[in-house]
Amino acid sequence: MNIMKGQYGNPSSIHAFGREAKRTVSGARDVVAASLGCNPDELVFTGGGTESDNLAIFGAVAARAEKGKHVITTAIEHHAVLHSCQELERQGYEVTYLPVDESGRIRVEDLREAIRPDTVLITMMYANNEIGTIQPIREVGELARQHDILFHTDAVQALGSQPISCKDLPVDLVSFSAHKINGPQGVGALYVRRGVTLEARSHGGLQERQRRAGTENMAGIVGFAEALKLNSEQGAEHLQHALELRKLLLDQLAVHVGEEHFHVNGHAEHTLPNILNISFPEVSTETMLMNLDMEGIAVASGSACTSGSLEVSHVLKAMNLPKAFLQSAIRFSWGLGNTTQDIITTAEKIGTILERLRNRP
Ligand SMILES: Cc1ncc(COP(=O)(O)O)c(C=O)c1O
Repeated sequence: MNIMKGQYGNPSSIHAFGREAKRTVSGARDVVAASLGCNPDELVFTGGGTESDNLAIFGAVAARAEKGKHVITTAIEHHAVLHSCQELERQGYEVTYLPVDESGRIRVEDLREAIRPDTVLITMMYANNEIGTIQPIREVGELARQHDILFHTDAVQALGSQPISCKDLPVDLVSFSAHKINGPQGVGALYVRRGVTLEARSHGGLQERQRRAGTENMAGIVGFAEALKLNSEQGAEHLQHALELRKLLLDQLAVHVGEEHFHVNGHAEHTLPNILNISFPEVSTETMLMNLDMEGIAVASGSACTSGSLEVSHVLKAMNLPKAFLQSAIRFSWGLGNTTQDIITTAEKIGTILERLRNRP
């Protein structure tokens, strides 16, 4: 707010107001870079996770066109990646969509077999947004390096709860979004390792080292830096809180619903602390969503970006879950604003809803 009111200079202008704006953006860039474990010049500020994914994928393949036209991804990516890969296919690229096991993890062996001499890019999410499952990113990155293949990871959902240091990971490109850590919507970043060339997707001014033309979203960038700062100051506390709520939700569901009436979709160990995807096979997803909404509880059927559609999630389908689990899955997520009482109430309400629906005439 203060930035929007008090600093109206354009960071690219050379007058005093512009120089002040440039200092503000540079200061925020330093904070973001320090939090993400990279150099300030390795960051490109974007309009969010989707734009970061698009810039990484299209920018990387265009810059490596002479090596080949084969890309590897997974069947459970966010649509920002999946739809970009489908667009690549329309443009004549070949894309391998790696399968996942029933916990949502890829098998490194499948990746090894998919690699070809003309593979230019592997794009694989750090952690899944619908089920929370974390991929073996380090092993994937090391394999990519051995074969001189660029490695992009979408870390949008992992940021905040996972200790991400770009320079310590075998990655070339990493996507981030501010709103996943309580920062403003519509701003994000792409980490581009020094030495990796990207072809720009937007053409115009020279901003962001000619990798993303357009005047910077100054208020958004400052908000992103502030959110990261708060996250690193209170990260351990937040993580503990998220883990407690996760355990509490499972315990309370066992009490109010009964363990035999629900099933967790995802990995028990390699998982984010703030997402649980649970099927209640007796009730369809839509019915449960509607009933919980009437109780003032906001949950989802899958990704927020596609929650308007009644289609079964591509992520759960790829995990080959039984039909009853596919049709009754609910995605729970929680954050700083949630309390233990919220979790207890949620489990109680689910118990009541199930009981009511069971006793329906
Ligand atoms: C894994 C993942 N990638 C990309 C995105 C898109 O990010 P944005 O909403 O900032 O465009 C999301 C958003 O939920 C996400 O969860």
